Order: sequence, then C-alpha cells, then structure tokens
Amino acid sequence: MNHSHVRGTVSNPAGHPQGDPSVAPASAGPGRPPGALGAALKAEGLASPQTRAGGAAICTLGLTLGFQQRDVLCNIDLDVAQGKVTALLGPTGSGKTTLLRTFNRMNDMVSGYRHSGDVLLDGRSIWRSGLDTMALRRKVGMLFQRPNPFPMSILDNVVAGVKAHRLAGRAGIRPIAERHLREVGLWDAVATRLKDSPFRLSGGQQQLLCLARALAVDPDVLLLDEPTSSLDPVATESIEALIRTLVPRLTVVIVTHNLAQARRVSDRTVFLNRGRLVEHGDTGQVFENPAEAETAEYISGRFG
Ligand SMILES: Nc1ncnc2c1ncn2[C@@H]1O[C@H](COP(=O)(O)OP(=O)(O)OP(=O)(O)O)[C@@H](O)[C@H]1O
Ligand SMILES: [Mg+2]
Repeated sequence: MNHSHVRGTVSNPAGHPQGDPSVAPASAGPGRPPGALGAALKAEGLASPQTRAGGAAICTLGLTLGFQQRDVLCNIDLDVAQGKVTALLGPTGSGKTTLLRTFNRMNDMVSGYRHSGDVLLDGRSIWRSGLDTMALRRKVGMLFQRPNPFPMSILDNVVAGVKAHRLAGRAGIRPIAERHLREVGLWDAVATRLKDSPFRLSGGQQQLLCLARALAVDPDVLLLDEPTSSLDPVATESIEALIRTLVPRLTVVIVTHNLAQARRVSDRTVFLNRGRLVEHGDTGQVFENPAEAETAEYISGRFG
C-alpha cells in the first residue's frame, strides 16, 4: 500500500441534513435536466468508473477516527475490493458503524467526530475540496441498522432519491418503484397499498423498503449496517441472495454480528478489534485459517 498520502483534516460542513444519503438532492439543484447528473458527477470524478478488475472501490490510508479526544479506530489501511461483498466484523463498539458512516461522509456533521488520514473513492479523496457530498452519498448508499422510512407514501419512499436527483421523468417513476420493490421481495405485500404510510409496515418490511430506496438511485457502493437484524430467517435469506446478485455491479460492505451470514454472503472479511484492523482476507481463509489468534477467538465465539 502506498502511504505517501496527504493527511486529511476534519471537514464539517454545517447544515447538511442527516438521513438517507441516497435521497439528498444533487448539487445542481432543481433546474437540472435529467441526464445532467452524470455529467456533473463525471466532472467531479464521481462518475461510474470502468470496473477495475481486482481493484479497490474504497481505499483507506492511515485512517484514524474518533470522537472528541477518544480514538475509535487507529491507522486503518484497508482496500475494499471492487465488485465484491466485504463483511465487517468486530465486537460491539469496535467502530464498524463509524467506519461505514465515514465512507460517505455521514459522520462529518456529527459533533465531536474527527479523522486523520484519508479515504479514496475510485482513487480520489472523499474530502477533496469542491466535492459534492450529496453526489457522493448517491454513489455510496447506506442502509442503516434501524429502518428509517420517510413520512410519505410507500411509493414515494422508493422513488424519493430518484426524484431528488432527477434520475427519471414522470412516466418512469412508477416502473422504477415496482422494479425495486420486486427486487427486494416486497412487491406482493405492498402492490395494493402503494399510497399507504410505510409506518404500518412491519419493521422488516420497512427495512426492505429502505433497501429498495437505496437501490433505486443506482449506487456504486452499498453500505449495509446489520441490515437483517430485524428480519425473519426467510427475509434474511432473500436479502442475502439479493446481495449476491448485486455484485459485481456494485461493491457491498456489510456489517454483521451474524458470523454464519458473513461466511455465506461475503467474499472478503475484515475483523476490527480494540481500535485496530486485526485481519483482512478472503472470507474462507479468515474463517478457516485465520492469521491472527484474536480473529480465531472471535470467530469461534469466545468473545464479542
Ligand atoms: N456520536 C458519537 N459521539 C461519541 N461517541 C460515539 C458517537 N458515535 C459512536 N461513538 C462511539 O464510538 C465507538 C464505536 O461506535 P460504533 O457505533 O462505530 O460501534 P459498532 O462497532 O458499530 O458497534 P455495534 O456492533 O454495537 O453496532 C463506541 O465507543 C461509541 O460509543
Ligand atoms: Mg454499529
């Protein structure tokens, strides 16, 4: 790994709303014609890259993260493989969510958050000046541990980001909603109640709705923070199968406490503990032949 990087400093753009990153409007504003987003993203170096076989979609360089005086993660050098599923494992409080939220700069507005080092997306710093964080969050979508539907209809939830980013004309909106609701296996349950409130859906269904919303803006990277913790085994299985269909088109990073799930769904596994990246390798290797005793202990359930 090349360590000759510029150390980033904390940037804290005030006033960005916190919420679903895929839905925040792109910088060009409401007057932007459909199709202009791609050009704007290209100009910012955020356009969909050619898939770099074997490359890294996200690269962290000596990344140290913390809140106030306390470091959560120290000196993390990690290449997130492009077009693969990477599982992020670690005991509670080890910094998994903080790391995910750093990848699309969701932490920038959290009071007390600080970082040094850098994160590259497709080879360019996510903290470079002039980068539009809203466009970044469209490219790097996130599903939170707890579902967060918006107070609008089920249909409007799915297409909220599509509308905000003007990714489709009026006639295209409903087909996009149907496609993504079908993709996550929710269509049959909601087809006759698209105008209903999402808050009458079960917790698991709300999570699937949020996943449909995240996919609808066609991200390059999807960050999943314990996405199945509120789902039953059948829905969990279908989400895992769905995740496998997303690669290699997308790069997926999934945080999970379910070791069997990490093993089933991921190509690569990262183990974080006590502020460090302990191990990163092919999932088979990490589970069957971990290089570090700490990893072996964790995956055998002796701690965490
Ligand atoms: N906004 C915040 N202010 C201060 N400390 C925070 C904040 N958010 C997280 N932390 C701290 O950072 C550490 C890492 O938290 P994080 O949520 O990233 O852990 P995690 O690995 O996702 O844990 P879990 O498995 O329980 O979800 C914890 O000690 C937590 O208390
Ligand atoms: Mg967490």
